Amino acid sequence: MIIAIDGPASSGKGTLARKLALHYGLPHLDTGALYRAVGRRLLKDEADLQDVQAAENAARSLTAGDLNDPGLRDEATGEAASIVSAMPGVRAALLEYQRTFARQPGGAVLDGRDVGTVICPEADAKLFVTAAAMIRAKRRADELKARGEPADERRILEDIEARDRRDAERTVAPLRPAADAHLLDTSNLSIEAAFEAAKAVIESAVRK
Ligand code: C5P
Repeated sequence: MIIAIDGPASSGKGTLARKLALHYGLPHLDTGALYRAVGRRLLKDEADLQDVQAAENAARSLTAGDLNDPGLRDEATGEAASIVSAMPGVRAALLEYQRTFARQPGGAVLDGRDVGTVICPEADAKLFVTAAAMIRAKRRADELKARGEPADERRILEDIEARDRRDAERTVAPLRPAADAHLLDTSNLSIEAAFEAAKAVIESAVRK
């Protein structure tokens, strides 16, 4: 069974994907980590974030070390990821790895922006997870505070809105729900309630 979970930044899709993977005993791929690892590599190399060649080279040569870099979740890395992810060559370089992961025997859970539309249009169940931008900013601020990092909620909201715009407006694999995706708005849902709602969607999709 392949479960595709897409949605904007801090919508709760990562938490949901991890819980679903555990529940169904499936491997999980956070596809955003791939784009973050590319962005992180450029930041570390002090390369220009608009340097398409450097970004494509990084995407083609990612290592396990890049994917486990402790700086992957930093705000600056998220911003860099959002820039390099608009480059068609970067997306092309990361496509096959994601497809192979999804199509392994038994299936998988993948979360990202284009899993249901580009990576796995054939997924058995597709969820598009959203939440109001202000609520996403608050969640992100709480996450940073829990890690002992400074969190300016207004700046985070501006960053989230800028990232949403960039992800939705890019020409290649823009952020949008697949026609057959089930929309799940987690604005007023606890993690547990979102998990229950997602399971109900998946079980009904699989029964069909
Ligand atoms: O989900 P996360 O915040 O980790 O993703 C970081 C960035 O990577 C996003 O802002 C988005 O621009 C990009 N991304 C993407 N396609 C995916 C996953 C992430 O373009 N499948």
